[in-house]
Amino acid sequence: MDKRIAIVTGASSGLGAEFVKQLDEHEKLDEIWVIARRRERMAALQEEVHTPLRVFAWDLTEPETFSGFSELLASEKPHIMFLVNAAGYGKIGSFRDISPEENERMVDLNCRAAMSVTQRSIPYMGKGSRVLEICSTAAFQPMQYLDTYAATKAFLYRYSRALRIELLGTGIHVTAVCPYWIKDTEFIGVAQKTKNSRYIRHFPLGSKKHSVAAMALCASRLNLPVATPGIICTLHRIVAKFIPHSLMMGVWALIRRI
Ligand SMILES: NC(=O)c1ccc[n+]([C@@H]2O[C@H](COP(=O)([O-])OP(=O)(O)OC[C@H]3O[C@@H](n4cnc5c(N)ncnc54)[C@H](OP(=O)(O)O)[C@@H]3O)[C@@H](O)[C@H]2O)c1
Repeated sequence: MDKRIAIVTGASSGLGAEFVKQLDEHEKLDEIWVIARRRERMAALQEEVHTPLRVFAWDLTEPETFSGFSELLASEKPHIMFLVNAAGYGKIGSFRDISPEENERMVDLNCRAAMSVTQRSIPYMGKGSRVLEICSTAAFQPMQYLDTYAATKAFLYRYSRALRIELLGTGIHVTAVCPYWIKDTEFIGVAQKTKNSRYIRHFPLGSKKHSVAAMALCASRLNLPVATPGIICTLHRIVAKFIPHSLMMGVWALIRRI
């Protein structure tokens, strides 16, 4: 019988590692395939979970990774029960502070890799399989000084929503997960490593990875199209539906100075 597996990208830290732990705790899976660049971190995660992990130390911004991924799927023919695309990063700053190469890498990881891993995985999914695309509350509006990051998350959000409709009738659920700041991951530290990250001074009322992953898995179980795991991102989603983007960017100009 085909192995029932989960695939989690960005599993070497933060939200990705947390999803691995919660899938291990709540689901019966033969293996969890974990993908990120830091092999040791993912290997160490095996100490914390019972489900066997298969570690793939891959850079998802390298185009050849995707053909390798397809070859692996074709040879193993797993039954993919869960796909969590958590690999992603952002950079805070003006376009003057962030190189075009950095922004290109952000687009490659946050958009291209998530889309490619998803599309290549779908043929190995079936009724009851679940896809969680980790977007962000930044998907709900343009955000100056987080411009490319917010735009990449809008891409992933819209891709997820449309894909979900294309998959209606297959029993495969797709949920766009849109968290607000999460304080206990490496994301904010990575985002601040730019020439000038003072454009966003504080990260008030941030959430925690455990509750974000738990609420996201619950939303996916309920087959919700969008998960807003927390009060702030839920309010943001509602407000952004009614208020023009130019006004929302004005509000953001105030919030980021707090
Ligand atoms: N934390 C927040 O405030 C927040 C808010 C909203 C949305 N999000 C989203 O949540 C997701 C998870 O972020 P996090 O908070 O858990 O941050 P994190 O702790 O920095 O995790 C990011 C993960 O992405 C992996 N990654 C980075 N570059 C990669 C590459 N080139 N190839 C493969 N993997 C790569 C990292 O692993 P390696 O470095 O080992 O490759 C790491 O496992 C991201 O998509 C992020 O945009 C985060």
